[in-house]
Amino acid sequence: MKVIDLTDEHKQLYFMCLEDWSEEMKEAGEHKQIWYNKMRDRGLRVKLALDDTGEVGGMIQYAPLEHAFAEGKDLYFIYCIWVHGYKKGRGDFQKQGMGKALLRAAESDAKEKEAKGMVAWGLSLPFWMKASWFKKQGYSKVDKQGMQVLLWKPFTDNAIPPKWVKEKKKPGAIPGKVTVTASVNGWCQAQNIVCERAKRASAELGDKVVFREIDTFDNEVLSEWGISDALFIDEKEIRTGPPPSYKKIKRLIARKAKRVQESA
Ligand SMILES: CC(C)(COP(=O)(O)OP(=O)(O)OC[C@H]1O[C@@H](n2cnc3c(N)ncnc32)[C@H](O)[C@@H]1OP(=O)(O)O)[C@@H](O)C(=O)NCCC(=O)NCCS
Repeated sequence: MKVIDLTDEHKQLYFMCLEDWSEEMKEAGEHKQIWYNKMRDRGLRVKLALDDTGEVGGMIQYAPLEHAFAEGKDLYFIYCIWVHGYKKGRGDFQKQGMGKALLRAAESDAKEKEAKGMVAWGLSLPFWMKASWFKKQGYSKVDKQGMQVLLWKPFTDNAIPPKWVKEKKKPGAIPGKVTVTASVNGWCQAQNIVCERAKRASAELGDKVVFREIDTFDNEVLSEWGISDALFIDEKEIRTGPPPSYKKIKRLIARKAKRVQESA
């Protein structure tokens, strides 16, 4: 097994989070590619893990923290690490050492770039990006927001602990309408899918529904909202990890639209 930097040959695969077999990924639009193109000049690093036959099984993407949705200085932030674990497509590569190798390679790289530490996020729930996995790899919890845990591994004694950017703004409601607001940053295909599904469902439900997309790539917009990726129906935040199906999103919006119609 070896870890390499992302090459042109594997870019399309990376944009699909290695899930080139997935129909869902096709719903994600161009957000990730656009994000990647902008982040390339801001220090984004992407590494892939290849097995002995040269097959790509894992990826890690990380960048200087100031471009991410946490606050801190001289640190790098891991947006995500993913070792393909489905039987479908390229198959299950988990538990063969790829995750650990990717994390080590990213840490050495960040150290070479004189970062004072590495930051990661995880969930306190036993699915998706588990905070407990990073703890096992020497990371410690430094902040929490809901189920989202911020963890870090300082490399130097003078490293300053990072913090989550705190959620601030809620979208305003429009009388007589249902507002659907998707904030989207681009880095996560699952969240890109949510945004695209909400946009499509809103369009299908007609003029009672107003869809708004908030691009949180811009740091000013991000600090105004304090949330990188989210879906709101009026002021209520909908749980989006893992992404709700298109049918479910449409049903939730339609239910609200019906109530608006009835009270008109
Ligand atoms: C977490 C993850 C990166 C680990 O990669 P991996 O290649 O399977 O792990 P490794 O083989 O390198 O194992 C590293 C260590 O983690 C442990 N480990 C692996 N999978 C584990 C699991 N599911 N639960 C607990 N520990 C696990 C191994 O036992 C090993 O322990 P050690 O440090 O004592 O040797 C991988 O399982 C993964 O991608 N999970 C999903 C993460 C995700 O949702 N990413 C998307 C975020 S947007």
